[in-house]
Amino acid sequence: AYFPVFTLFSGLLIWFGVVRRRVEGALRQSRDVLKAEVEQRRALNAELAKRSDELQATNKELEAFAYSVSHDLRAPVRHIAGFTELLQKHSDAVLDDKSRHQISMILDSAKRMGRLVDDLLAFSRIGRAEAQKTTVHLEPLMKGVVDEIAPDMKGRKIVWHIGNLPICYGDPAMLRLVFGNLVSNAVKFTRTCLQAEIEISSVNHTSDEVVVFVKDNGVGFDMKYKDKLFGVFQRLHSQEAFEGTGIGLATVQRIVQGHGGRVWAEASVNNGATFYVALPKAGRVNA
Ligand SMILES: Nc1ncnc2c1ncn2[C@@H]1O[C@H](COP(=O)(O)OP(=O)(O)O)[C@@H](O)[C@H]1O
Ligand SMILES: [Mg+2]
Repeated sequence: AYFPVFTLFSGLLIWFGVVRRRVEGALRQSRDVLKAEVEQRRALNAELAKRSDELQATNKELEAFAYSVSHDLRAPVRHIAGFTELLQKHSDAVLDDKSRHQISMILDSAKRMGRLVDDLLAFSRIGRAEAQKTTVHLEPLMKGVVDEIAPDMKGRKIVWHIGNLPICYGDPAMLRLVFGNLVSNAVKFTRTCLQAEIEISSVNHTSDEVVVFVKDNGVGFDMKYKDKLFGVFQRLHSQEAFEGTGIGLATVQRIVQGHGGRVWAEASVNNGATFYVALPKAGRVNA
C-alpha cells in the first residue's frame, strides 16, 4: 500500500511543478506585457507634456506679439487720423467735392483702425492680467452692469427681466466685463425692435457650476456661424447696420475660459439670441 501512495504523491508533485512553471511563465509574460505598456504610456505622457509646454510657449509668444503690435500701432494710427483732420480743416476751401469726400473716407478709416487697435490692445491686456478670484455675487454685479448701460438708452423701449442670480467664483472686474459685453450686445442687437425684451437669469446648476444667460428678442443670427462669433474681429452683422469692432465676444470667451468655464449661444435669424455662461461655483478650489 506504501508504494502506490508514494507514486501517487510524487506524481502529484511533478504535476504541481509543471503547472506551477506554466503559471509562472504566463505570469512573467503578462508582467512583461504590462511593463512594456507602462513604458509606452510613460513615453506618451512625456511627449504630451512636451507638446503642452511647446503650445504654451507659442501661445505666450503670440500674445506678446499681439500686445506689442497693437501697442506700437497706436501712435502711427493716431498720427494719420490727427493729420488728416488738420488737412481737412485747412484745405477745405481749396478742395473739390471729390477730394473732400476722399479725405473724409481716410479719416473714417483711420478712426476705425484706431478703435480696432485700442480694442485689440485691451484684449491682449486681459490675457496678461492675473485674475484676482474670490466669491462673486452675480446679482449685484449684474445690477451694476444694467444700471451703467440702461441710462444711455433714452428713446429706446427696453423691458428688463432680471431673475435670481447665483454666487460663483471668479474675478469680479473681469466678470463685469463679460456681462457688460453680453448685455450691451443684447441692447445693441435689439435696436430694431419696437420693444426690446432682455432677460437675465440662471438655469440648470450642477454641483460644481452655475449657468447664467442673457437673452434678447433682437435680430439674432444664423446658427451656421455660431463658431465664428467668439473670434477676434469676427462679426455677423454689417458695420452699417450695427457698429462694433468684434472684440467683445472674444474677450468674453477668453475671460470665461480663463475661469475654467464655458460660453455658448443659441439664436435664430430675427428671433433673438441667448448667450449662456457656465462658471465654477463658489468655493471650488483650483478653479
Ligand atoms: N445678442 C446678439 N444678437 C445677435 N447677434 C449678436 C449678439 N451678440 C453678438 N452677436 C453677433 O456676434 C458678433 C460679435 O460680437 P462682439 O464680439 O460683441 O462684437 P461687436 O459687438 O463689436 O459687433 C456681432 O457683431 C454680432 O454679429
Ligand atoms: Mg459687442
